[in-house]
Amino acid sequence: MIVKLNEIDEYYDELDFSRPFVIPTETVYGLAAKIDSDEALRKIFEIKGRPTDNPLIVHISGVEMLETLIEGPVCEEYKVLITKYWPGPLTLIFKCKENLSAVIRGRNQSTVAIRRPRSEALRNLIARIGVPLAAPSANTSGRPSPSCVEHAVNDLGEKVSLYIDDGPCEEGLESTVFGIIDGIPTLLRPGSITKEMIEESLQREIVLKTHASDDEAPICPGHKYKHYAPNASIYLFTGMEWKEKMKTTAEELKDKKIGLIGHQRQNFAVEKFYDIGETLKDKCKNIFSAFRDLDLCCDVIFVHETALEMEGRAFMDRVRKAATYVI
Ligand code: TXA
Ligand code: MG
Repeated sequence: MIVKLNEIDEYYDELDFSRPFVIPTETVYGLAAKIDSDEALRKIFEIKGRPTDNPLIVHISGVEMLETLIEGPVCEEYKVLITKYWPGPLTLIFKCKENLSAVIRGRNQSTVAIRRPRSEALRNLIARIGVPLAAPSANTSGRPSPSCVEHAVNDLGEKVSLYIDDGPCEEGLESTVFGIIDGIPTLLRPGSITKEMIEESLQREIVLKTHASDDEAPICPGHKYKHYAPNASIYLFTGMEWKEKMKTTAEELKDKKIGLIGHQRQNFAVEKFYDIGETLKDKCKNIFSAFRDLDLCCDVIFVHETALEMEGRAFMDRVRKAATYVI
């Protein structure tokens, strides 16, 4: 069943929120469960095929819910970020309360990731349900995150019985994940709240830690896993000569159906060209849709790199993790 977010109040009493359901957020669609039901939380992992050691982000309606989840007072630096960027696409890592479900806790079972989503209608729904919602992206584990409800339906189908639809996501990429870890301000997943914005707000440099080396226990368990990839192999082209390299590779792969992601067509034939727009915001918003769309008709997908600054960092993080070949 698909219900529109702006009609949810009319249907509320008929809906079953005791099992995982899909919610729209400004970033990507999420597969949500109430955090007071371990059974529903476990079901999320089963439906997505998600490794059980990868913890979930908890979505809250307001600051009163925050206090029910975290141990101790909010530190001054988090206060600055909360004032500036909540509600919005910024997830913060806190020390969690003893009674929080172990199913969703991170690092040594002592932390919890929390965000307050931008949509007022979604926050009202969380408030009406009365319990924070844990929600990872509503895709099958390893696939691109869903930036519209159809993507979630395609991946999860009848494994989920309630989908709440609010149209295409404003952002299209997952939230920024940031935490002060052992006293070090650390960016765990770049997003549209950029490294530069956080540094400006905190007036100090922050560390970027988005890849865990193999021998190191990751701070953000999501770092360990293959991510965001469609079935078609993704070729990421880098450096000044990316256009020439693309053309040569297209000639080498002439028996394959090539999908091209970019803002301009190139001088070689492709099966399908997907215009992801010109600005960094457009690129972030459209990249997962582009992967899913080209995956329907292409064997390989070509994309070129973007400068590692501002939202370009989030774009490159997702594209690098999805890429089969970097050329
Ligand atoms: O925009 C988003 O954040 C979306 C929407 C639905 O809110 N959610 C999302 O969730 O992207 P997910 O599960 O796909 O990604 C959550 C990331 C994972 O990389 C996970 O490892 C990390 O956040 N994470 C969760 N809890 C953590 C914790 N306590 N400490 C460190 N990293 C954590
Ligand atoms: Mg995800």
